[in-house]
Amino acid sequence: NLPHLSWKTIMMILGIETSCDDTGAALVEAKHGAFRVRSNVIISQAKLHNKYGGVVPELAARNHLKNIIPAIDQALASRFSPLPRGRLRGGLDAIAVTAGPGLVTSLHVGVETAKTLSLAWGVPLVGANHMEGHIYSVLLTPPPLSRRGSGGGALTFPAVCLIVSGGHTELILMTNHGQYKLLGKTRDDAAGEAFDKSAFMLGLPYPGGPSISKAAEKGDPQSFDIPRPMIERDDCEFSFSGMKNAIRLIVESYKKKRARLPIDDLAASIQQAIVDILITKSLIAVAKAKPKIFILAGGVAANAELRKQLAQKLPKSIKLLTSSLKYSQDNGAMIAAGAYQRIKQKKFDSPVSLTANAHWELV
Ligand code: KG4
Ligand code: ZN
Repeated sequence: NLPHLSWKTIMMILGIETSCDDTGAALVEAKHGAFRVRSNVIISQAKLHNKYGGVVPELAARNHLKNIIPAIDQALASRFSPLPRGRLRGGLDAIAVTAGPGLVTSLHVGVETAKTLSLAWGVPLVGANHMEGHIYSVLLTPPPLSRRGSGGGALTFPAVCLIVSGGHTELILMTNHGQYKLLGKTRDDAAGEAFDKSAFMLGLPYPGGPSISKAAEKGDPQSFDIPRPMIERDDCEFSFSGMKNAIRLIVESYKKKRARLPIDDLAASIQQAIVDILITKSLIAVAKAKPKIFILAGGVAANAELRKQLAQKLPKSIKLLTSSLKYSQDNGAMIAAGAYQRIKQKKFDSPVSLTANAHWELV
């Protein structure tokens, strides 16, 4: 029984994210579907996982355990200083925590922490979907909170969402808040994974997306012929695993020749191949679904070439919404925003029995 939510127009939500390797905690103010981020703390583990070329689940979970309380403490300090303890009940309206999808050992840390805080503080809890968080991250930009939204924020429907991250590559049709239909997804690797694995083969640091795109700035995207699997098919299915083998063969051939690998050119060619696949499939989705807006979200949405080329190729009648760079990588603010609609409808989860679901699909 939470009477204060029925009249409150401004809600304060604590968002917690630990689905992969970044520990995120954020305080987000929500009003009529518009959001203002009061704090957004991300404790990155990228350096720890760098030498393995990808995230090591056990290492990630252990470091989430170490970082989660400091992250939450710091996030709350922006409004409640010092950590409020007893005073919180009136200040915080909900706790949203990523319950899936993700690495199960990492998810447990956030979920169990959020359950404990929910019980201790008497604040309602929502187990949020990570992908939904990515979608709503596009609202973590202006308009400012003071300008009344239409009740649905800046989202208009139907919307086509391309969610591209380290674990997912999906085209989703969104017909309303919380209503999703899968248009297509990857058969094998995710786009972020393709960046990460390619970077590893090129000897570039993890995460691979930023490393590849940085090297690509000085390279020629036409210099290597990188395969674009399934690009000819008139559907929204993706495949990236075939690219790895092609890149491995190129790297090996240079090794054999004892020639210096032209890393910048290869990085630019790889990036362009991934961008081509993502854009081609997005345009097929748009032609089929005829949306009002197109949402580009997820870690790979930070890619400057993808943003630029998609903006150029998308029909002008369709509005392109992308998250600002700081909200495209995993963070707690997007989790708070993604959970907002459910919080508004008081669809809370039990702080006793909520469990992480590593394979929680949005659709
Ligand atoms: O959404 P995210 O932070 O975590 C997951 O949910 O997976 O996405 C991480 C992925 C990594 O694969 C990383 O290489 C990729 O996003 N990424 C990028 C860029 N920045 C991050 N990929 C391409 N270009 C970028 N600038
Ligand atoms: Zn993510």
